[in-house]
Amino acid sequence: MKTMKIGLIGCGNISDIYLRNLSTFPGLQVEACADLIPARAVEKAAQYRIPRTCSTEELLQDSEIEMVVNLTLPRTHAAVAREILLAGKHVYNEKPLALTRQEGQELLELAAVKNLRIGCAPDTVLGAGIQTARALIDEGLIGTPLSAAASMQCHGHEHWHPAPDFYYEPGGGPLFDMGPYYLSALVTLLGPAAAVTAMAAKGFDTRIIGSAPRKGETIQVTTPTHLAGVIQFESGVLCNTTMSFDVWKSTQPHLEIHGTRGSLLIGDPNTFDAAVSLFRAEAQDWTALPLRQGYSSHMRGLGVADMAQAVRSGNNHRCSGTIAFHVLDIMHAFLDSSHKKSEQPLSSRCERPTPAVDLFSSRQMES
Ligand SMILES: NC(=O)c1ccc[n+]([C@@H]2O[C@H](COP(=O)([O-])OP(=O)(O)OC[C@H]3O[C@@H](n4cnc5c(N)ncnc54)[C@H](O)[C@@H]3O)[C@@H](O)[C@H]2O)c1
Repeated sequence: MKTMKIGLIGCGNISDIYLRNLSTFPGLQVEACADLIPARAVEKAAQYRIPRTCSTEELLQDSEIEMVVNLTLPRTHAAVAREILLAGKHVYNEKPLALTRQEGQELLELAAVKNLRIGCAPDTVLGAGIQTARALIDEGLIGTPLSAAASMQCHGHEHWHPAPDFYYEPGGGPLFDMGPYYLSALVTLLGPAAAVTAMAAKGFDTRIIGSAPRKGETIQVTTPTHLAGVIQFESGVLCNTTMSFDVWKSTQPHLEIHGTRGSLLIGDPNTFDAAVSLFRAEAQDWTALPLRQGYSSHMRGLGVADMAQAVRSGNNHRCSGTIAFHVLDIMHAFLDSSHKKSEQPLSSRCERPTPAVDLFSSRQMES
């Protein structure tokens, strides 16, 4: 078994969970980490026993590093990923894949030309919650899916994130920040989308940072913070979609899928252990179901490990650039629909990833 050495660029808030988890997978080793602010990389390296820190340029020149995890900000995801691919390394981006469709498309094309893998968060779709829901749908427990609803409504992230600016600029907002969890889950459960329609709004022009070190500072909101849309899936399923950073509290469920024989209620797709309940026409009541398989703890990094294993085995990786691009296309189509006041057909498509049954259950990566 040849260990895959990994580099990590962007040692901010979310890097902790990746650094904690990645080394728990057999055959993976985080070799180096880098950040525009070198002190951050030094701090994380010490905390998680990463052999070395360096500049991004040095990391990309290291011929031992085969794959790089890109945890920079949405506005730099594409540029950093492009450099990683040009350096001849596989890349796994945090979400969203890129800011624009053109950037995303160019990344997919570059990866294909260089025969390299491109993957993208979220990997919560590989968790026990979404995978259990998928198995139930595939086994026909709710019959043929007819309609769905997705709701992510909260008041944003400026009260806790130390540098929340990116959540309120293009590439952020509830749609681009939280949308990938819901849309990737829907694509996993229902397959690709065909068209969307939506209206978007901005409830507040400014936000006030609530946590140190910039507590009290005002930031401008330059992207929509409330979206009400409908997705039409290729299968014909229609999904009401609400994404908002303008809501103090909502009681709407995160995800519901309604079929010819019953309904599924699914918890937060930004977790690995989303609760799943089933309503069957004959039972006339909800039943909470045990999660069947997969990781139910916070295993962010699972998608990276799956991609590394796929590189070694030659299989497809599940959290693919193709799915992330389709999700990016859906998000842009929502905003286009709002601007143009018309339904937007999607030009991208993707296949549903293979189920993540027994992923790493053997705790061995194929060589
Ligand atoms: N914070 C969370 O809870 C969370 C959860 C899931 C996903 N994410 C995603 O993870 C990504 C990072 O979010 P975060 O919260 O860690 O942000 P952050 O601001 O805390 O960290 C980003 C880090 O990237 C570094 N950076 C930026 N551009 C760089 C470049 N060109 N080269 C090298 N380093 C660069 C910054 O210096 C910073 O240390 C975002 O895409 C976000 O959507 C964050």
